[in-house]
Amino acid sequence: MTKVRFLKIDGSLDREVEAPEGALLLDVAQANAQPLEGACEGAMACSTCHVIVAPEDFERLPRASEEEDDLLDLASHVTRTSRLACQIVFGAELDSLTVRMPGGCYNWQDR
Ligand code: FES
Repeated sequence: MTKVRFLKIDGSLDREVEAPEGALLLDVAQANAQPLEGACEGAMACSTCHVIVAPEDFERLPRASEEEDDLLDLASHVTRTSRLACQIVFGAELDSLTVRMPGGCYNWQDR
């Protein structure tokens, strides 16, 4: 299990949950009411699953593929530690992960 902390745009804690090994960050986020649309359902065609990974966790993740980096170039509010949530799979080696919703993100589920 990985302890996942979801932070709001302002950096405050929204919620902390447990994710099973093999789960996708996007699926865990959506199951926990995070405002990530994931429009292409992980087909790497949209970047609506953009999250900002805590710097201390970013280096522990496998590197993004060139295709993921190219898509992130098109996303808004990108930072040095941005990733696509549909490309992060929880492995046994990852005990915790903190991600923040990017600026410009809104909770479409509340509309
Ligand atoms: Fe579309 Fe991640 S869900 S790129």
